[in-house]
Amino acid sequence: MDYTAKLDDALNRLHEEGRYRTFIDIERKKGQFPHATWRKPDGSETPITVWCGNDYLGMGQHPVVLEAMHEAIDATGAGSGGTRNISGTTVYHKRLEAELADLHGKEAALLFTSAYIANDATLSTLPKLFPGLIIYSDELNHASMIEGVRRNGGAKRIFKHNDLDDLRAKLEADDPAAPKLIAFESIYSMDGDFGPIEAICDLADEFGALTYIDEVHAVGMYGPRGAGVAERDRLMHRIDIINGTLAKAYGVMGGYIAASAKMCDAVRSYAPGFIFTTSLPPAVAAGAAASVRHLKTDQELRDRHQTQAKILKTRLKGMGLPIIDHGSHIVPVIVGDPVHTKQLSDMLLEGYGIYVQPINFPTVPRGTERLRFTPSPVHGPDEMDRLVRAMDELWSHCALNRAELAG
Ligand SMILES: Cc1ncc(COP(=O)(O)O)c(C=O)c1O
Repeated sequence: MDYTAKLDDALNRLHEEGRYRTFIDIERKKGQFPHATWRKPDGSETPITVWCGNDYLGMGQHPVVLEAMHEAIDATGAGSGGTRNISGTTVYHKRLEAELADLHGKEAALLFTSAYIANDATLSTLPKLFPGLIIYSDELNHASMIEGVRRNGGAKRIFKHNDLDDLRAKLEADDPAAPKLIAFESIYSMDGDFGPIEAICDLADEFGALTYIDEVHAVGMYGPRGAGVAERDRLMHRIDIINGTLAKAYGVMGGYIAASAKMCDAVRSYAPGFIFTTSLPPAVAAGAAASVRHLKTDQELRDRHQTQAKILKTRLKGMGLPIIDHGSHIVPVIVGDPVHTKQLSDMLLEGYGIYVQPINFPTVPRGTERLRFTPSPVHGPDEMDRLVRAMDELWSHCALNRAELAG
């Protein structure tokens, strides 16, 4: 077998479909985010503004977080030195889990190295705990949930995105006595639309199913203490397992589930993705705990974040740009073609120092290729002006369609 030729084939397929991903190498500077430096392949440097990060609130440079991380690293060193079971459980991990259980009003929380692993490890383990479990999974669930459901060996039903009739039909078609779990997200990160949490909880009650929600794009940002959309809508107590990340609005790294003490104990005891891997560095746990604690009370930051998103959406809509607006903090501008999307992204970066990564298939369906902007409280009015002007110029330059403006 010519292994190199096979690798060439695989990579060429991506090039041909316009799906080959190139990384933009950036250097963030503490205190200056969203400003950063782009290190180009030729070795030169350009100042840029990051408009596509998931450090939604700028907590990745918040003094409270950095102080906690410095203190922990000075006190304890770099890595945890072990799996949770073998010398890798520290006071920092325990404190963070307590902080997260309190955040979500649950008896317990369980830390993972990322929310990807938390989803994958938990969903792939649940059929071991509930033999015969059927998982009902929204078709637009994140890859980490899809993976967990796919390889768990149990039964799965994929329901149409946010379609309660389809979910109901699938629940009705199965044995009423079978254990069931409905897995969905509170905010779908590519369109920024919300899952129908209350209606799903009602269906779960009716059919005796457990509920599993991914609040990765909501924790820190929604709800009076930042616990997510289920908190905002007073539905947290109706969700059996809440998944969240510490890497986006909390600005650090790591993922978790929050649930009953028994559920966490069982996942802790059975999930290979929890058991057989080194725990997070203590300083990471310390920084994340400080961030979670801080955002339990910093409503002003949450408000500024939402205001920024509203301003950007209003301004882009005002120019007739085709944006998707479901009332969340995510601002997708649909270009509808992978080549144009990449061109626009390249021109924004090279001509204006504005960094927004093109989002193509398979992350989004073909024909809905887009630029996904993530305005934050640390983007100032000048940055916003520059972005809006650049989009206006490039939209005209590329002769892309604008919506008819009323009036
Ligand atoms: C919906 C959703 N769930 C889970 C994850 C994984 O989160 P993490 O970056 O902590 O692994 C992501 C990451 O983008 C996501 O969008």
